[in-house]
Amino acid sequence: MIYCVQPNESIWKVAEKFGVSPKAIQIANPQVINPEHLVVGEMVYIPINIDWHAFYPKGIELPEVSDPWPEVRVQGPNPEYAHLLMEDYAGDVSETTAIMLYLYHHQDMEEALPEVSELLEGIAIIEMHHQEILADLIKMLGGNPIYSGKDGQPWTAEYVPYYSQQPCQQIQADITAERAAIRQYQKHIKKINDPYIQAILQRIIKDEEYHLKLFTDMYRKYCQRFNRK
Ligand SMILES: [Fe+2]
Repeated sequence: MIYCVQPNESIWKVAEKFGVSPKAIQIANPQVINPEHLVVGEMVYIPINIDWHAFYPKGIELPEVSDPWPEVRVQGPNPEYAHLLMEDYAGDVSETTAIMLYLYHHQDMEEALPEVSELLEGIAIIEMHHQEILADLIKMLGGNPIYSGKDGQPWTAEYVPYYSQQPCQQIQADITAERAAIRQYQKHIKKINDPYIQAILQRIIKDEEYHLKLFTDMYRKYCQRFNRK
C-alpha cells in the first residue's frame, strides 16, 4: 500500500505504525533521501501483505493459484519500464480491460449461465488485484497509473468485446483475453531487465494460466456440444 507521510515522521515511525521492518520500507523506497526526516505529503510504499480477501463478500470464489506473491518492489526508477507496464495496466490487452470485460459478461450471463457468471465475478476481483500491483510498480518506476496505454492513448470501452446475450461467444472472448494477456506479459518479461518486476509478472502469469484453464473447462462444459453439429 501507499502511505502519505504525516508531520514529524521518520521511516522508523512509519515502520512502527504498520508493524513492518524499517529496512523493508527503505528497500521499497529507493527515492527516499533522508530516512530520518521524511517530507510531509511524500508517498512511501509500505510492503505489507494485506489479507485483501477479507475485504470481499464471503462466498465468492477467488480463483488464483496458491503460490506466494514476490515482494512488490523495483530496482530503481525507470520511465521506460513504467511505460511498458502501462500497456498491461490500461492498454488494449490489460488488467483494466479484463476487469471491465469480465464484469460485463458476469452481468450479462447471470441468468443464462449462473456458474460461469459467478466465476467471472471472482476472476474480475483477481484481475483488480493484478491491476493494483501494476499501479504500485508504475508509481515506484516514476510513472503515473492513469487509465492509458503505453503510448498515452486513453483506455476505451471499445476494447471490450461485449457479445451481449451470446454466452459462448463471451467465454470464447474471455479465453482469447487470457491468452493475449499471457503472451504480452511474456513479451514484457523479456524487455524488462529487473528481476523484481520479472518475478511479479511471472506470478501474474500463473493466475492467468489458471483463469485460462477455468474458462476452457466452462466452454467445454456448456458450449462445445452445441458446436459439434
Ligand atoms: Fe490479470
